[in-house]
Amino acid sequence: MNTVSLSLCLSPYLLSFSTLVRNMTNQNVIVSDRNPILGSKTITVSVSKSPLFSSPPTYFTFPRRKFLELLEAADKNNNNKNNLGAGKISSWVDSMRDSSPTRLRSSSRDSDSDNDEKTSWIVRFPSALNMFDKIMNAAKGKQIVMFLDYDGTLSPIVEDPDKAYITHEMREVVKDVALNFPTAIVTGRSIDKVRAFVKLNEIYYAGSHGMDIEGPTNENSYGESNQGVLFQPAREFVPMIEKVVKILEKKTKCIPGAMVENNKFCLSVHFRRVDEKIWAALAEQVKSVLVDYPKLKLTQGRKVLEIRPTIKWDKGQALNFLLRSLGFEHSENVVPVYIGDDRTDEDAFKVLREKGQGFGILVSKVPKETNASYSLQDPSQVNEFLKRLVDWKRKTVGEE
Ligand SMILES: *[C@@H]1O[C@H](CO)[C@@H](O)[C@H](O)[C@H]1NC(C)=O
Ligand SMILES: *[C@@H]1O[C@H](CO)[C@@H](O)[C@H](O)[C@H]1NC(C)=O
Ligand SMILES: [Mg+2]
Repeated sequence: MNTVSLSLCLSPYLLSFSTLVRNMTNQNVIVSDRNPILGSKTITVSVSKSPLFSSPPTYFTFPRRKFLELLEAADKNNNNKNNLGAGKISSWVDSMRDSSPTRLRSSSRDSDSDNDEKTSWIVRFPSALNMFDKIMNAAKGKQIVMFLDYDGTLSPIVEDPDKAYITHEMREVVKDVALNFPTAIVTGRSIDKVRAFVKLNEIYYAGSHGMDIEGPTNENSYGESNQGVLFQPAREFVPMIEKVVKILEKKTKCIPGAMVENNKFCLSVHFRRVDEKIWAALAEQVKSVLVDYPKLKLTQGRKVLEIRPTIKWDKGQALNFLLRSLGFEHSENVVPVYIGDDRTDEDAFKVLREKGQGFGILVSKVPKETNASYSLQDPSQVNEFLKRLVDWKRKTVGEE
């Protein structure tokens, strides 16, 4: 008898299969992803009532072919659901791999076609540095409002998300920007964490993908003082997020490099230090938690999966909220500029595109589908762009 060994690290296929068996037996199924299928005529799956094996498991034996059929059926079944099914997971893994700038290309033919793709992309989304004068001409006489993502925009994407420090130089220029324009940092992280990185009081913070918005805390050049919390549309979700963080910490314990971050109103599972080979398995683990939490949804970012409340609130809504708070809701004379590198920033790019106001700048070294108007390659180019912005403001003030 070839018994499938027990493990909490499930592959997508086996997880789908476990749902199937759970349906058949009304019990939890724990199966391993260590290739139990290869080389055996029959497959035995152990089924236990609890994932922690407090009760002795029962065993089901299937002929190998039948097992594979069931597997296929279960996987199809999974794909048909609206949420992230196994098919979506593999396409997500592909897109995450492609968005990784360190990805090596193997053949020279690949790199030729890569170059063509890159050339046509940069024509569609020109460098915000090359287009600087054009952009600023459009902003002349209007109020620029700056929105900046944090990870991958102001700080490099590093292996350990707790060490995504901003450089001294970047902090100084963001401060200068904030002294010249209303400025907000819009991030998926918790406000506490991003504030600890940025250490500036002059700016607005929209943390947890905009679900936690705070104004400048000390008196600033706009004469406001101690505004503190402005908006928290998902407050009732805090205990639920805490619970899910604990569950995921337990579930991902056996996946080397996986990191769960509590962002207060949402949470992140970081893939940055996880071997690409097990990304799909980890994604499946993350997704499986949502079965018990229909009020939470899964979104993807750069080497990160995020779980957040299903409420209709994102970085785009946060941008609108902040413009409203600043009194620019109906103003023709405002130019919002949003700089970000991630899928979640697309919500803000889309809002700007739909408004026909201001513009989005995507930070990316590789061609990507985007609703931004311009591009910058990396945080050092963001730094340069912000410097030029401050210089431009000083110069135009001098002219007035
Ligand atoms: C399990 O049962 C539910 C409800 O009967 C069904 O919607 C779902 O598709 C089944 N899952 C699988 C993998 O068969
Ligand atoms: C850009 O906006 C369009 C229209 O809303 C949308 O269909 C598309 O998915 C967006 N692209 C990205 C990359 O988000
Ligand atoms: Mg980012």
